[in-house]
Amino acid sequence: MSHASTPEPLTAAPGAPLRGRLRPPGDKSISHRAMILGLLSLGETRVEGLLEGDDVLRTAAAARALGADVERLGEGRWRVRGVGIGGLCDPAETLDFGNAGTGSRLMMGVVGGQPVTATFDGDASLRSRPMRRILDPLSRMGAQVLAEAEGGRVPLTLRGLKEAIPITYETPAASAQIKSAVLLAGLNAPGTTTVIEAQATRDHTERMLRLFGATVTVEPHGPGGHGRKVSLAGQPTLRGTDVVVPADPSSAAFPLVAALITPGSEVTIEGVMMNSLRTGLITTLLEMGADIERVAEREEGGETVADLRVRASRLTGVEVPAERAPAMIDEYPVLAVAAAFAEGPTRMNGLHELRVKESDRLAAVAAGLAVNGVIHRIEGDDLVVEGRGEPPPGGGTVATHLDHRIAMAFLVLGLAARAPVTVDDGAMIATSFPSFLPTMRALGGRIGG
Ligand code: S3P
Repeated sequence: MSHASTPEPLTAAPGAPLRGRLRPPGDKSISHRAMILGLLSLGETRVEGLLEGDDVLRTAAAARALGADVERLGEGRWRVRGVGIGGLCDPAETLDFGNAGTGSRLMMGVVGGQPVTATFDGDASLRSRPMRRILDPLSRMGAQVLAEAEGGRVPLTLRGLKEAIPITYETPAASAQIKSAVLLAGLNAPGTTTVIEAQATRDHTERMLRLFGATVTVEPHGPGGHGRKVSLAGQPTLRGTDVVVPADPSSAAFPLVAALITPGSEVTIEGVMMNSLRTGLITTLLEMGADIERVAEREEGGETVADLRVRASRLTGVEVPAERAPAMIDEYPVLAVAAAFAEGPTRMNGLHELRVKESDRLAAVAAGLAVNGVIHRIEGDDLVVEGRGEPPPGGGTVATHLDHRIAMAFLVLGLAARAPVTVDDGAMIATSFPSFLPTMRALGGRIGG
């Protein structure tokens, strides 16, 4: 397992307005998938704009260990020469995924569908996260779990059959990771693998599988058409291709909310992916009265992207429906921060999945709000934040529990609260947004170690 790094406390202090332009790093979900499909295809995949955060670098290392030739050509520019479906080799060592839930779970799908044996491990956060949700469908597809830590956690060892068994699987949680693991295992199944989800989750795996040459059909499913039935024709020949990674909306969320809550701010965030299964935060902030303009909408790498012009705004509390959760699942910590500045209550419904993220994010957000004097309550799986339409007190030290998004969200709070906010450890920010500190400082944000 990766050894815990020395904690790096950081403090954000209120100060001047934020001004300027930035481009957030490449999307984490797409970056992981580019590495994985590069591994599973024949020929060369070239990636532009890859997120070079620790999570994705772990996936790159795992792809290498499973047989791919992975090379960094320049900043964000990578080349992967894959081995094709069925061409993987047994990794010589444990695949250490560090903090990366997505990388590890998607790669479990790959390994569970192939005749290779691999051991997965990670840091204390990953070791605490549930993997049964992935192992259960993979077992139905023929994968054997040769060893696992108590409760179906890493470290665990997985082995797939020569060919996976095609299944139809209804996901028990709205999780793109579960869907993706099943589809990736289904690549080596003779026949159609189908995943049914009651609520549509991010569709990057489906889109990228098509880009690499697989046949994937997607139909609306269930009441109101909120769900999806996704079917993959097994054993395609995947061909390496070019992947352009758009900027990550989940990283854009931090400077975006920082600009909204810091008086006098005006910030332009460039090239942000506008996939509607990822833009729930923007929808919510617009309902709260945020001044966010989408300009220069265009296509990049098969996704619509836009520049977001964001100005400081007076926000009003709203109710965020549970159905929106999959489209903003990683953005609730920073939405809770925005809600702390809004006038009136913001109710965020249906947050049970937050309990199994890099930390128990529902508990971590509540604790962070509490130490900074923000009135809030948890009601079942819902979080209610009582904004006063003015900066909250701040002044607290937030426990981040190895969770990058908890660290960034509360640093954003500190940029506009009445007193500085400290997070106990900012080291994990490097998993998803390695340039967060210089980026925020360049806008005028006062964040120091
Ligand atoms: C991701 C899916 C989400 C999200 C994670 C990235 C993905 O997790 O929280 O950061 O790339 O598929 P779940 O599938 O557990 O909701």
